[in-house]
Amino acid sequence: MNSGLFITFEGLDGAGKSTQLARAVRYIRQRGHRVLVTREPGGTRTGERIRDILLASKTGMLAPLAELALMYAARAQLLEERIRPALARGKVVVSDRFNTASFAYQGYGRELGTATVRAFDRVICGTTQPSLTIILDLDPGRALGRALGRGTQRRKRLDRIEALGLAFHQRVRAGYLAIARSAPERIKLVRADQSIEELQRQIRELIEPYLAERKQDSILKTRLP
Ligand SMILES: Nc1ncnc2c1ncn2[C@@H]1O[C@H](COP(=O)(O)OP(=O)(O)O)[C@@H](O)[C@H]1O
Ligand SMILES: [Mg+2]
Repeated sequence: MNSGLFITFEGLDGAGKSTQLARAVRYIRQRGHRVLVTREPGGTRTGERIRDILLASKTGMLAPLAELALMYAARAQLLEERIRPALARGKVVVSDRFNTASFAYQGYGRELGTATVRAFDRVICGTTQPSLTIILDLDPGRALGRALGRGTQRRKRLDRIEALGLAFHQRVRAGYLAIARSAPERIKLVRADQSIEELQRQIRELIEPYLAERKQDSILKTRLP
């Protein structure tokens, strides 16, 4: 049996994550792999309730450490209920945001620092880390414009984190860029100001070696006596 493969999509709201994730998942399934798709914060019943607290504007002020702890609480639930079992069964897990978002949003955006986020990450995620993280990089002004233009509603209400303003989102973007530079072999940056089709092509190129390696693994294993 194949060992699991864990791929995450990251970037600001409106960068194009959901658009590209859907296309990547279709591609991975066409190649014959079983896929679990999930999103953060949320992805489980408990996690979706935590998501409501995190994103509802009526929540009001949330201490940055409380926000970080809730993110990791939802993540712990998602790992236990869905991600680890799927990886153990050899599935490809594709998540719309995961732990890199905590480093960018709470570490850089909320200015808690990466050491604090890493402390949570060591305990909650441990060795369950994405093999590949794709960051869609876009100017915060353009990302927000896309997020507002999304869907049929002419104007969508901003959620609690979207409403934090340009300076916050510029720190988050700078965070994403710094994180990508710190682990270039695992975390890949793509410029999101390109056409949907061109991005799709670049993302397939990033994913392909990981799929090829799994095929190779299963061929080797079936040849073993
Ligand atoms: N490459 C692109 N160029 C222009 N518009 C895009 C692109 N990718 C996505 N969009 C549009 O921008 C909006 C936000 O995209 P979405 O995938 O929902 O972003 P995210 O999931 O990162 O918030 C959607 O209306 C989508 O159709
Ligand atoms: Mg989305």
